[in-house]
Amino acid sequence: MRMSVIGCGYLGAVHAAAMAELGHEVVGVDVDAQKVALLAAGQAPFFEPGLPELLTEVGATGRLTFTTDMAAVQGAAVHFICVGTPQKRGEYAADLAYVDGAVESLLPYLSPGDVVAGKSTVPVGTAERIAEQVAAAQPEATVVWNPEFLREGFAVQDTLHPDRIVLGVPAGPDGERATAIMDEVYAAPLADDTPQVITDLATAQLVKVAANSFLATKISFINAMAELCEATGADVTRLADAIGFDARIGRRFLNAGLGFGGGCLPKDIRAFMARAGELGADQALSFLKEVDAINMRRRVRMVDLAREVCDGSIVGKKIAVLGAAFKPDSDDVRDSPALSVAAQMGLQGARVVVTDPQAVANARRAWPDLRYAATPEEAAAGADVVVLATEWRQYRDLDPEAFGEIVGHKRIVDGRNVLDPAAWRAAGWTYRALGRH
Ligand code: UDX
Repeated sequence: MRMSVIGCGYLGAVHAAAMAELGHEVVGVDVDAQKVALLAAGQAPFFEPGLPELLTEVGATGRLTFTTDMAAVQGAAVHFICVGTPQKRGEYAADLAYVDGAVESLLPYLSPGDVVAGKSTVPVGTAERIAEQVAAAQPEATVVWNPEFLREGFAVQDTLHPDRIVLGVPAGPDGERATAIMDEVYAAPLADDTPQVITDLATAQLVKVAANSFLATKISFINAMAELCEATGADVTRLADAIGFDARIGRRFLNAGLGFGGGCLPKDIRAFMARAGELGADQALSFLKEVDAINMRRRVRMVDLAREVCDGSIVGKKIAVLGAAFKPDSDDVRDSPALSVAAQMGLQGARVVVTDPQAVANARRAWPDLRYAATPEEAAAGADVVVLATEWRQYRDLDPEAFGEIVGHKRIVDGRNVLDPAAWRAAGWTYRALGRH
């Protein structure tokens, strides 16, 4: 099937490549000429494991092309909207400028029978508004909503083998026809028995923000428990293990530490609260304010812990921050807890050196005033304290003996609860963590 993917960021680039891998003929469109040039050359514009290989593989088939020219979408049966919906500056609400821009530039190229499939995370009601715009421009095209649940770092796997396919369609024959087309798009995962939920537009839009709100709540729940563990001398990682054995709770997404960041969870819960307010249902989501507050408090606590291990002051102290990305296996620094802690400590007078295996270039763009190092050894040379902020495999595997030779003082604050406290203490380190002693 011929299809277009509008917006080639973390979501769209992976989606386009995955659709081509499934056998479809795909054109990816983006306004960013540099991004398009890289993708057209088979290179990923960001770090995502498996994506360069996939781009090379499907690039060779000729089924995947990229362009800045929207006219290229003409003739595609399905147009996926994959642009970003960041948080508005100074507000909780989502900024829909990119969605509106994408739809507006798509309208002139729509043909009868086309399906416009929204994948971006949007405030509920957006799909219905887009459907009106599309109907005015091309009455025989149909808007559906098909949210995406991919995780950065696992994006290729998640897109090729999703754990569910959610599709919101309008009622009536248009919806049935669009469903049949989307079933063809996802024929391969459907043949693998991927669960499918077909529903109305409003539910499909809500599914995405509901899922992310649940995940954010789960993380903030365990981080709230971490606060209690800190107050009582208990160990939050053992607590999580113990409650996680209950299948109704589950151990996944119960890792206490610096909390959630990234381009999705923080802005999605805020946009959800803003939308609920517009709908007169703000009370329903007032708990998300607390989820957000718990999450942000962890960053403050991390800075306080660094201060505590530095005998009460970080002014002038050299602090090595291991990690800048919002999570491992990503170069994404959007709302990164690691960088936010690094920046705070810098503002409070510490001499901060940040390192990350992939995210230094992005971090430097966001926080040019911080110092950066290529390796943990370089960052930690002579350091007064080491702060582990993103749990990259290479940081988890650090040898406390060898690493102890490099630093000025053997003090480490484990912001992700991934190090073995006994091993680090045995090597002479002062070990502190969020939620365990
Ligand atoms: C998330 C959703 O998981 C995904 O389904 C959606 O499509 C987009 O948003 P992503 O932003 O890639 O994906 O990251 P995710 O793996 O969910 O992690 C989010 C944040 O939570 C990270 O900062 C991570 O470090 C943190 N986290 C995760 C915890 O602090 N504890 C955990 O137990 C799990």
